[in-house]
Amino acid sequence: MPLPWRTSFGSVSTYAVSAVSRGDEEDCAGLLRYKSIGMQIRVAAAEQSEQEALRNLFQLYAYDFSEILPLDVEGTGRFKEKSLDSYWREAWRFPFLLRADEHLAGFALVHHKSRFSSADDVWDMAEFFVLRRHRRAGVGTAAARWIFATHPGKWEIRQRNANVSATAFWRRAIAAYTDGCFTEELLDDERWRGPVQRFMSEDPTAGRGAGR
Ligand SMILES: CC(C)(COP(=O)(O)OP(=O)(O)OC[C@H]1O[C@@H](n2cnc3c(N)ncnc32)[C@H](O)[C@@H]1OP(=O)(O)O)[C@@H](O)C(=O)NCCC(=O)NCCS
Repeated sequence: MPLPWRTSFGSVSTYAVSAVSRGDEEDCAGLLRYKSIGMQIRVAAAEQSEQEALRNLFQLYAYDFSEILPLDVEGTGRFKEKSLDSYWREAWRFPFLLRADEHLAGFALVHHKSRFSSADDVWDMAEFFVLRRHRRAGVGTAAARWIFATHPGKWEIRQRNANVSATAFWRRAIAAYTDGCFTEELLDDERWRGPVQRFMSEDPTAGRGAGR
């Protein structure tokens, strides 16, 4: 069982949400496939040669975010490009591509650095995206679960206040993974404006994976 983890700042509440089991399966080292949702979900580190795919998906992510942030496209019709080079240069940044039945289905950008304290023993879900075509089918949950299990330690997940659907998703996905053993803090200052969930992910090699 993962341990509850409390921070030293702010007020923190613990969520007790019953675990959701989809009866997922694990089938090989490095990649997990979740078959019980009717398709195979694969999460794999994005290679530098796949940077263009990630950049293109990021455009769609920005488009989704333009519903809640004042993001305009440039003269090219594209959103301002985010430089992704650092994901292959800096050891604390981890890019992933998500695939559903081998079709690109989204991405995750993970940092091994707290967004709040710069502590380098905290995993931060910097960006996370599932293509609309694959939403509400368990893809995000399966991918998040794989990423948590393969990156043991302290986790922080953040959502902007306006992104209420992301908060609903993360509460549910984290609750399922941790058996409800996580905390949530609502920040409203220069550090962040919105909910932050925190929990511990255990090293699956130290026993069976957390929440499985
Ligand atoms: C948030 C996001 C990643 C969810 O991915 P997903 O693959 O659709 O999520 P799942 O199918 O695993 O959802 C699991 C549960 O989360 C909750 N959930 C997911 N999307 C939701 C939404 N739009 N509204 C309310 N609850 C939602 C539901 O409880 C859902 O279970 P249900 O479908 O049985 O009701 C996806 O909608 C997305 O990429 N959004 C745009 C980018 C974004 O906001 N990223 C998060 C940044 S913090």
